[in-house]
Amino acid sequence: MKVLFVCLGNICRSPLAEGIFRSKTQALGLDWEIDSAGTAGYHVGESPHRLSQKTAKFYGIDISAQKCRQFIAEDMEFFDRIYTMDQDNFAEVKRISREKWNPAKTDLLLNSLYPGKNNSVPDPWYGEEPGYHEVFKLIEKACDKIIEEVKR
Ligand code: 4NP
Repeated sequence: MKVLFVCLGNICRSPLAEGIFRSKTQALGLDWEIDSAGTAGYHVGESPHRLSQKTAKFYGIDISAQKCRQFIAEDMEFFDRIYTMDQDNFAEVKRISREKWNPAKTDLLLNSLYPGKNNSVPDPWYGEEPGYHEVFKLIEKACDKIIEEVKR
């Protein structure tokens, strides 16, 4: 399985999702390919946000080696599942993918917890450290749900 997480900047939310999901699948001995990307290119080549790194480390996950990149249409072909953090990211992924767009592969991450609700993982970029912990816990819950379904 190849799984991609997408947010706007690929420095706050999707790098956390990548790190959390990788750590959980590795713990289960699953050799899955996990990655993340942003729909915007503002931070390409940068490490995850300082507070995303700090929060991940607090929960025992090291995301310091991850690097920001932008989503490309080819990602839609390469990955089996693509999870976006909010509806704007979803619309952008669709726009960037053009004729490669495949709705069967793509969903909002939180629809794994609350099917069809189209809830967003809030963007912690404009806020303080507690927001990153909230986002971590929310993403972790969604990842647990996805993995639970995979195991069944
Ligand atoms: P992310 O958060 O989409 O969770 O990575 C953001 C990061 C950077 C910006 C916006 C959101 N930005 O405007 O630079």
